[in-house]
Amino acid sequence: MLMNQWESRWQDGHIGFHLQEVNPILVQYSDELLFESPERVFVPFCGKSLDLCWLASKTNKVLGVELVGKAVQDFFAENNITNSIHQIDKFELFSSKSIDIFQGDFFELKLEQTSTFKAIYDRASIVSLQKAERNKYVDHLISFLEPGGRILLITLEYEQKRMDGPPYSVPSEEIEKLFTPYGTLELLESSEILDERFRNKGLDSLLEHVFMIIKK
Ligand SMILES: C[S@@+](CC[C@H](N)C(=O)[O-])C[C@H]1O[C@@H](n2cnc3c(N)ncnc32)[C@H](O)[C@@H]1O
Repeated sequence: MLMNQWESRWQDGHIGFHLQEVNPILVQYSDELLFESPERVFVPFCGKSLDLCWLASKTNKVLGVELVGKAVQDFFAENNITNSIHQIDKFELFSSKSIDIFQGDFFELKLEQTSTFKAIYDRASIVSLQKAERNKYVDHLISFLEPGGRILLITLEYEQKRMDGPPYSVPSEEIEKLFTPYGTLELLESSEILDERFRNKGLDSLLEHVFMIIKK
């Protein structure tokens, strides 16, 4: 999907991925993600997820990255969080007491702008990307993780020929191939989450996979 297509999805309100509650999977596996009591958590492709607020209640600082300005503005406005905005290279950095969001292209984010993290929470990012972009995404993502650091990763798998992405189907074998070079990977759970929305798009199965990755 081209970047400006994300822009129009946000403008048109086509954001079916956005949850009105904190993701129960994050809550369920937070002890594992926050095992080493990290000071900060990194959330790439964060949208306006309420998970940012929940993580901020558990750590000192949450740092998100989101391409679309409307998503970031809506996040701070809808949650009544006072923030300031500074230009940093190709990004607008929206800062608040416990949540900062870099608004811009994640692939342009440099390690010296954020330093590394012990914990990354990644929901619905890889499934936003076409297959050809996923290797580059994982390489870049892993560069923000300290050795021994953890990623809680939530992805989707379905029969790709039945529906065009995003979300794209990213089979668990592909996740294994992408991440195994960097550390250990554990499949924590897989659940059938097919609902009316995706049934109407032609799917008869939609699996949500939850992985914990620990960098070597
Ligand atoms: C499927 S949504 C998931 C949002 C969020 N993680 C959630 O759980 O609600 C993917 C998000 O990634 C953003 N995005 C797409 N490409 C991006 C990029 N290159 N850099 C930063 N954000 C990007 C989109 O604008 C969209 O908000």
